[in-house]
Amino acid sequence: MSSGKAEVSPRVEKLLASMTPAEKIGQLIQYFYFQLPESDVDSGLPERQTDLVEQALAAGRAGSLLFVTDPATSNRLQRQAVAGSAHGIPVLFGFDVIHGLRTIFPVPIALAASWNPELIEQAQTVAAREARAVGIHWAFAPMVDIARDPRWGRMIEGAGEDPFLAAAVAAAQVRGFQGSHLGADEHIIAGPKHFAGYGAAVGGRDYDEVDLSDQELWNTYLPPFQAAIDAGAGNIMSAYMDLNGVPATGNRWLLHDVLREGLGFEGFVVSDANSARDLETHHFAADLPDAGVRALNAGLDLEMTIVEPAYGHLDEALADGRVDLERIDASVRRLLAVKEALGLLDNPFVDEDAARVTLADPAHRDAAREAAEGSAVLLRNEGDLLPLAATSVQKLAVIGPLADSKRDTLGPWIFDYDLEETVTVLDGIRSHLEQPTVEVTYAAGVPAFARKYPSMFDMWGDGSRADENADAEAELANAVRTATEADVAVVVIGERQDMIGEHASRASLDLPGNQLALLQAVVATGTPTVVVLLSGRPLDLRWAQENVPAILQVWYPGTRGGEAVANLLFGQAVPGGKLPFSWPRTAGQIPMHYAHTRSHSPENQGRRYWDEESTPLYPFGHGLSYATFEYANPSVSAASVGRDESVTVGVDVTNTSGQDGVEVAQLYLHQRYGSSSRPVRLLKGFQRVPVAAGQTIRVEFTISPAERRYWSSATRDWVLDATVFDVWVGTNSEAELHTEFTVQR
Ligand code: NOJ
Repeated sequence: MSSGKAEVSPRVEKLLASMTPAEKIGQLIQYFYFQLPESDVDSGLPERQTDLVEQALAAGRAGSLLFVTDPATSNRLQRQAVAGSAHGIPVLFGFDVIHGLRTIFPVPIALAASWNPELIEQAQTVAAREARAVGIHWAFAPMVDIARDPRWGRMIEGAGEDPFLAAAVAAAQVRGFQGSHLGADEHIIAGPKHFAGYGAAVGGRDYDEVDLSDQELWNTYLPPFQAAIDAGAGNIMSAYMDLNGVPATGNRWLLHDVLREGLGFEGFVVSDANSARDLETHHFAADLPDAGVRALNAGLDLEMTIVEPAYGHLDEALADGRVDLERIDASVRRLLAVKEALGLLDNPFVDEDAARVTLADPAHRDAAREAAEGSAVLLRNEGDLLPLAATSVQKLAVIGPLADSKRDTLGPWIFDYDLEETVTVLDGIRSHLEQPTVEVTYAAGVPAFARKYPSMFDMWGDGSRADENADAEAELANAVRTATEADVAVVVIGERQDMIGEHASRASLDLPGNQLALLQAVVATGTPTVVVLLSGRPLDLRWAQENVPAILQVWYPGTRGGEAVANLLFGQAVPGGKLPFSWPRTAGQIPMHYAHTRSHSPENQGRRYWDEESTPLYPFGHGLSYATFEYANPSVSAASVGRDESVTVGVDVTNTSGQDGVEVAQLYLHQRYGSSSRPVRLLKGFQRVPVAAGQTIRVEFTISPAERRYWSSATRDWVLDATVFDVWVGTNSEAELHTEFTVQR
């Protein structure tokens, strides 16, 4: 087990000993370096933000930069850093490498929906390779925040609602980014974020406060961080919001007692952007200097900032004793050790020609296509409408505002993408159907629509714009005509890519921009209709579920998304993804997660509201295939075990169809009684098993004591109860095949 610690060498100790306090403090400051087009000078940022940074570099007062993706700029700034630092110390470049750099992979929630750690590791390996080639040393990823409220736009960056799945996804991403060890060739540091609890913002409103009980924190929100730390993550990012009334970035209990002592993290902690300065904004610190003192003393190592850093005042605080040199040294040591581990103390520059070659590697695009195929979730397939047989279709209508939009194919959190390389769903279907020749027609169906309030990413000049002058009736009529004349209609709808992500919470889950009316009009033509959904959160699909035979959730599938979707629609790829969250029927049900506890009147669980069912539209873990699977013969290795013993559960999975497929077999556990009342079921095992047509495979899961342990509010500690466990195995969180075992004292 690693703890993210870069070993501290005699070289680093020597360097540290020779540095002045001012130089040391400089190492703890990280600046954005915004290279914005001229036209964006009034975007709200300081007018000459880059000047501010370059002055800091010249003065040896910046240890790290972010938002530089161009290798030539990286080299130029690195030369300035080395020249400005009395000891020639280079900067560490960080960046939001969320789902690829040049080659864009499906968004993180999509990768999680693959339930395939190898695929996820592979995706972030490619992302790391591209990032390192251009001079990026560290990704502000993975985001491992549990999200149980889909109004919160950042759920797209995480792995959904479940701590067990999210832990597996977090560890896979860390392995992908970092490789075998901190400093591995063609790899970068992983920075799991946001510590901690950010996903539980009240009302799903981004940045708003979070109140979490200790049991929720330890049992639900911290396990993915623990998994990422155990996988060796070198960095952790603190969160923006108040956690239980104390801002996360100034919260010593959180950053020290929980993170260092509880989870065993030994790497470096960075603030979120401006979140050290925010300690003043929160009315927690008295002023900016106090914010720096409170953050450092809470355990923050590196301050990320756009403008004047709070850490810029640490010199005065050191002089008058509000902080001590030992504390500063501890942080600087961590940063220098990382720079050494990455080889930056010997050569901080990148090879600009080699970078071009790496970014153009066709293997990266293939990996992106495979990831998109592996993460799509088939929500519904009535009458086996899918896969479509290209031979029996003469005319296929592709309809919808997202069908031919490259940026919407890529999703949010993209900066250095390549639009030329991007294949939309329309492009993908067209090239797929060139042989055999099928006529593909297209209609957008609704005018371009946009957010009511702007996106913080509009400063990059490519947010969606509403088309006020469009003739909505004519667009709709054209779509209806196109659908009527076709044998099959593929309707590509969802949210535009700037409607989800940071600063993109929503009050409703409706399909925006009249897309429901479009779908209803297309279905009314009687042409068999498939919905291809682009979104990073569940949307209100109640009408579609009742009226549309096939629904394929493809998330934002990335650079080769259109090719992947065409392969899925025509059966060259078989959907195998599973939902990483419970899909609510309507926003009024939120929050909704499968792992609730039993309470009064459990038999009436589905009827808690009088106006809507209280079950999800699709359960956690749901996802169909073109194959069908049956589960049988569950067994346990022992009906009764001791508290320290493991149990093995076996089950037969049979492919009852004529089509090969891959099933994600899932195991859920329920503790019948004990120190606390425990959730009705909890995912405690999953396995992706390829099962050929007609074949039966025996799948086994091991349930160790670690999976039965939990933090109890009754004892205010970890407990491992002697009790009875129900076990269900099957295709989703509503699996009915049951067995049980007893744990003896
Ligand atoms: C703010 C976001 O919360 C964080 O996730 C991101 O890494 C930083 N900005 C840097 O862009």
